[in-house]
Amino acid sequence: MDLILLGAPGAGKGTQSSLLAERLGMEKIATGDILRDAVRRGTELGLEAKAFMDAGELVPDAVIFGLVKSALETPAAEAGAIFDGFPRNVPQAQKLEEILDEMGRTLGAVVVIDVPEEVLVRRMSGRRTDPETGNVYHVEHNPAPAEIAGRLVQRDDDREETVRHRLQVYRAATEPLIEFYESAEVPVYHVRGDRSIDLVRDEIVSLVGR
Ligand code: AP5
Repeated sequence: MDLILLGAPGAGKGTQSSLLAERLGMEKIATGDILRDAVRRGTELGLEAKAFMDAGELVPDAVIFGLVKSALETPAAEAGAIFDGFPRNVPQAQKLEEILDEMGRTLGAVVVIDVPEEVLVRRMSGRRTDPETGNVYHVEHNPAPAEIAGRLVQRDDDREETVRHRLQVYRAATEPLIEFYESAEVPVYHVRGDRSIDLVRDEIVSLVGR
């Protein structure tokens, strides 16, 4: 069974997808992480994606489809995948349906993490990432262990004006997916994401846990 985590930038998809992958024995497929890794390594994909990401725009669909398909074909994804940051618009959702059908996989549920906009902006300005593990921290709500604090980095797209633009892109392109999945009769669960990280995780596990 595969699972989609939907939510605005900063809602906690990356945080929760890592925790859920560990708890449920599933593979996290985070298109944003894959793209940032490519940018860091200076690959052709990274060079193509960087300008879109820095501007808070979506990277072209054709680039994303290849990434997702390769990630799903790894042995680690056989037991189930948690999609974080994908799909991002209706064409991506339609393509995912096609890929899952071809591979004989089933989309079990969509979990929407709801967080008020002012909280999102505060979260993204305090976010720090560990470039070695990809783990995400927050300077106040979720500080990193002292021994790794020195290597943490801030994302280029976490400047306030870019954050506001990413939120607009989310409302216009990604939020309509909630209705898309409701119409497709895939179970859609809403979870309040402005509570502690553990509470949010426990609620998602109780909704989708196998
Ligand atoms: P992506 O990396 O997917 O970013 P996003 O969707 O904008 O989401 P974020 O990573 O900003 O937030 P999150 O929900 O994961 O929150 P997090 O857990 O980090 O995409 C980046 C860019 O890549 C896009 O703009 C686009 O250009 C491109 N891209 C990616 N996928 C694409 C696709 N499919 N198609 C086209 N383009 C694509 O949490 C945020 C902060 O809050 C952290 O500091 C965390 O510690 C803290 N926090 C989390 N939960 C809590 C809590 N419960 N309480 C307090 N603090 C919390």
